[in-house]
Amino acid sequence: MEVIRDVAELAKWTASRRAPTVLVPTMGALHAGHAALVARGAEESRAGGWGGCVVSVFVNPTQFNDPGDLARYPRTLEADAAICAGAGADAVFAPSEEAMYPRGETVAVPALPKVATEPGLEDAFRPGHFAGVCQVVARLFAVTGSRAAVFGEKDWQQLQVVRAMESARGPAGVRIVAHATVRDADGLAMSSRNRFLSPEARRMALAIPRALARARGGSAVEEAERAMAEELAGLRVEYAVVRDAETLGPMVSGRPGRALVAAWSGGTRLIDNGPWT
Ligand code: PAF
Repeated sequence: MEVIRDVAELAKWTASRRAPTVLVPTMGALHAGHAALVARGAEESRAGGWGGCVVSVFVNPTQFNDPGDLARYPRTLEADAAICAGAGADAVFAPSEEAMYPRGETVAVPALPKVATEPGLEDAFRPGHFAGVCQVVARLFAVTGSRAAVFGEKDWQQLQVVRAMESARGPAGVRIVAHATVRDADGLAMSSRNRFLSPEARRMALAIPRALARARGGSAVEEAERAMAEELAGLRVEYAVVRDAETLGPMVSGRPGRALVAAWSGGTRLIDNGPWT
């Protein structure tokens, strides 16, 4: 497996493959949840006759609205490359900031779909975040030339945003493959930020998967939201809501719903989601 650091080298490698690749975009600090995404990317490539699976590892500064969060974000490229190799990736693309955002060049921010600006969820609590995500994802799609990409369901709103962005491009759009959230044995969704949780903060954070489990059992939206609020009483909650699973607007009867939570445990912000029926 190759580790590629710049765009020209990536283009050369891609040209040597027999077909376009499948991309798994990440910010590194990989854990077993990412390994599952990479394995899924490798599987999609085999099954679809694509040219292999590329994992991008890039801590994208433009999607961080908190400079402290960006500075603290773990950078562990050597360990990440080992995880990618173990999960069946063909290459890791780990560009510098200069390679992604060349000085003197403007990297366009694509038109944001409504699901990136209207729900009042991540869009409201992390202003500018989805502009940065769409910018880097569009740039990654352009430089890799990938025709399919794997995203985790853990970042549910991000998944809907990227899907909407690509479906607006019609046939030119990259096919977005969703992969289920991987959880630790105690139910907590795997996240690169979990390493910041003290044992006590982690114990408290388990209220989040418990809240989602209770929401699933609720018969009405208000009842599900009340049950989540009750379960999350010990955390600083930003939102704990049930929404239309695709638009993330208010529930429309007959359409799939999704329960979504953002809450702080100790000094760590966690997000998670689960099905609502
Ligand atoms: O989900 C992430 O890790 C990031 O938002 C992504 C998609 C790699 C873009 O930087």
